[in-house]
Amino acid sequence: MMGFSRSDMNDESFRKLVSDAIHQHVLEVNEKVLEEFLTHVFYHQGAYDKKEDFVALDAKLDDIEKGWNGGVRLAYLSVPPTVFTDISKNLDEGGVTKGNAAFRVIVEKPVGTSLKTFEDIEKQLKTSFTDEQVYLLDHYLGKESVRNIYFLRHANPILERLFKNTLIHRVELTASEPAGLEGRAGYFEHTGTFRDMFQSHLLMMASLLTMRLMETEESIGHSRRDALEQFYIPPASSLNDIVIQGQYTGGEVNGETVVGYKDENGIDKNSRTNTFTALKLLSRTSRWQGVPFYLRSGKRMSKKETRISIEFQEPHPVGKNSTHNRLDIILQGEAGMKFFLQTKIGGSEPEYRPLIMSDPLVCMGDCLPEHSLLLLEAINGKNLWFLTFEEVRTAWKLIDPIQTHLEDPKTPLYGYAAGSHGPKEADEWLSTDGHTGFLS
Ligand code: BG6
Repeated sequence: MMGFSRSDMNDESFRKLVSDAIHQHVLEVNEKVLEEFLTHVFYHQGAYDKKEDFVALDAKLDDIEKGWNGGVRLAYLSVPPTVFTDISKNLDEGGVTKGNAAFRVIVEKPVGTSLKTFEDIEKQLKTSFTDEQVYLLDHYLGKESVRNIYFLRHANPILERLFKNTLIHRVELTASEPAGLEGRAGYFEHTGTFRDMFQSHLLMMASLLTMRLMETEESIGHSRRDALEQFYIPPASSLNDIVIQGQYTGGEVNGETVVGYKDENGIDKNSRTNTFTALKLLSRTSRWQGVPFYLRSGKRMSKKETRISIEFQEPHPVGKNSTHNRLDIILQGEAGMKFFLQTKIGGSEPEYRPLIMSDPLVCMGDCLPEHSLLLLEAINGKNLWFLTFEEVRTAWKLIDPIQTHLEDPKTPLYGYAAGSHGPKEADEWLSTDGHTGFLS
């Protein structure tokens, strides 16, 4: 492993940084294994825009790789998009891509800030690397729980029978988190929740839920992209009917008093950046046609929860206190599956109470954290769970017009107290579609 940045470090100080980070994040560290691992950790100081620094990096790598048989050079760009171009160009022109080892590069989402900036980055990436060398990473696609959206459907044909527009009333995809900016004010202020969470994570979840099941794993990427292409913004007299945004004010999260967004360090006092967004989409896929998909995400919400809720239709009025049947697939937070049925309570009148069948969903077997799994797959040249350029392009095409609308000073931005479920206006917004607020 070779670190490369402008910071003044050497192998020794970088090894200390790596070791400290591992001790901070890993519960039980095997010191012997760590010690041996650190002997493979190196550092090279350089500037992203200086070709000669990459030439020197290449020489250093050649030195380390002496005696290797094959191997892979995997460049992991954990950098702001503004320096993508320089780095890509110099990795190529500095010779790093042309060593004896195969070369691959990982680029983290968000790839760009709009369709236009994405296409600029794409152009540069395609000039410097071949398509097969580029791994576009959305860490949600490395989560076992997120991949399981697809595999639950694949393994349980009964679910597929239920997943069709004649039976489903609505689908909600929620990603809420109590976390705030976590030291990323600079990035977030120019991104907002809508681009940060919808452009890839939530749209990928929607694709995994609606994509065609495939005979072989190899076709998963294509099928996911096809499903994404089927989503569209419903026709409406105003985009306000399709999307709603909010920004947190001060409040209490997990028993701790926290400041409002505008009072966070590094945030403009007049900022209009959204920290909450809800969006309605429809799909052209025949089995999902007409089913509204409500995607929702917010920071400084009451709890961490990533959930898909599928609410079924109630074809006839059931009786007092009855609610729609519903299936929840909870991916993060208290991960599990819940099937909401109802049962009659005692008495001569038909009155109902909920009957919730629930089981935790925990990963068993060889479970790796998302980034570890994706890194391993990139090393092994498996790119099925990385984004394709086409997926990113399709996502930006959906996101761009809505982002422009959200940035318009005339578009409302509703406040919500930190630690709440988001703006009350969002529930009202949903009720105009005939639903009594978001499902909790
Ligand atoms: C990242 C966003 O992509 O996903 C963050 O940039 C967000 O703002 C994070 O907090 C959420 O990821 P997870 O894995 O905690 O659900």
